[in-house]
Amino acid sequence: MTVHLPDGSTLAFGAATAAYQIEGAAAEDGRGPSIWDTFAQRPGATKDGRDGSVACDSYHRYEEDLDLVAGMNAAWYRFSVSWPRIMPEGTGRVETRGLDYYDRLVDAALARGINPTATLYHWDLPQALEDRGGWPVRETAEAFADYATVVHERLGDRVKVWATHNEPWCAAYLGYSAGVHAPGRKEGGAGHRAAHHLNLGHGLAAARLHEAGVTDLGIVHNLAPFWPETPEAAQAADELDAVRNRVWLGPLVDGAYDEGLLRVAPELADPTLVRDGDLDLVRGSADWIGVNYYTPFRPTLADPTLARHPEVEAYPGATPVSFVVREPRTDIGWEVDAYGLEELLVDTHKRTGLPIMVTENGAAYPDTSLDDQDRIGYLDDHIGATRRAREAGADVRGYIVWTLLDNFEWAEGYTKTFGVVHVDPTDLTRTPKASYHWLAAHIAASV
Ligand code: FCB
Repeated sequence: MTVHLPDGSTLAFGAATAAYQIEGAAAEDGRGPSIWDTFAQRPGATKDGRDGSVACDSYHRYEEDLDLVAGMNAAWYRFSVSWPRIMPEGTGRVETRGLDYYDRLVDAALARGINPTATLYHWDLPQALEDRGGWPVRETAEAFADYATVVHERLGDRVKVWATHNEPWCAAYLGYSAGVHAPGRKEGGAGHRAAHHLNLGHGLAAARLHEAGVTDLGIVHNLAPFWPETPEAAQAADELDAVRNRVWLGPLVDGAYDEGLLRVAPELADPTLVRDGDLDLVRGSADWIGVNYYTPFRPTLADPTLARHPEVEAYPGATPVSFVVREPRTDIGWEVDAYGLEELLVDTHKRTGLPIMVTENGAAYPDTSLDDQDRIGYLDDHIGATRRAREAGADVRGYIVWTLLDNFEWAEGYTKTFGVVHVDPTDLTRTPKASYHWLAAHIAASV
């Protein structure tokens, strides 16, 4: 059985989850509070006022959840490790019981013939680190590298494919500029400072893990295509691309923030923030790249007839735009366009030259019954787009569906369901939807 990155001879399949969205057991085994525990308590922070304290209770039901992954014929399980379970105060003391949980999870995956791939940061920063400034301060990047080392020391004999961050754009800009995700700070340029420290944290952790022998170390981004709706919006689209995509790919590929980005984000030209050597550490630091894709973006210059998308505040310094969202849309309001994924994979291949995993793709639908034909259609189209990108030469190794279970969908609370398995809101019973059975058959037929 291979536990390294898939070789790409066929498209590999998997299912993804994230710790805070499914684990629950928030006060168990010495776990410390994370910024999502704190943020979710704020009135209005989540649509239904709920949090992840129970979620899917996967902390106790992980065996059943892995049975579901195996039953879907998926070769990969992408999970994330909860930093506050491992280091409840963010730095220093290690909580062994937290490591024990991931030990059990990894062993249970391997026992079922499933390859585990761990993401070290999926947004649940220990609250203690936020209390000392969070991602806009350098200490958080250094703490992340220490935490990554501790997790690798425990799991690295069995987990071979690692990712540092999941969608650091969200952590930086939704968290510190738009304030719609934890920690809920609306501080404009603080998003850029956070972005730099997320880059630095990745670079520091990558150096440690490579030194420890890791050969399959990646980072997962929600890179996005920006398609200007009108020619006048072309410049704005370029600025959005800078803040969403180039702020990560520039350091990773070139070891630099590009000129266009620096015009939008002068913070990133501050030598006290971006210190000598920081970006050299990031250049070439990934062995693979994860791409999470849901929708393309069609910016238009502020059009008063369109509601301003709340995420526009998440591009500090860029020309204010509205986003035109065409039909069809999923239940969360995101336009469905599989071509966006194909284009993005081909572009990411050209830009980075790295092996690519589609680390998330999926759709929220209202799921009035278990017969979720709309989700099947979405998945079918996007898996097709992934295969077309491969035929066009993009080195795409795998497709990992978001997500296994209906779960805590961040600011949406439990109101948006992305799972291929339904989770009963009262007793948490898992029931596979039609999309789960469709995927199981599709995967069986593709190998
Ligand atoms: C991504 C997140 C994931 C989930 C999906 C719908 O941005 O990485 O946790 O919320 O969106």
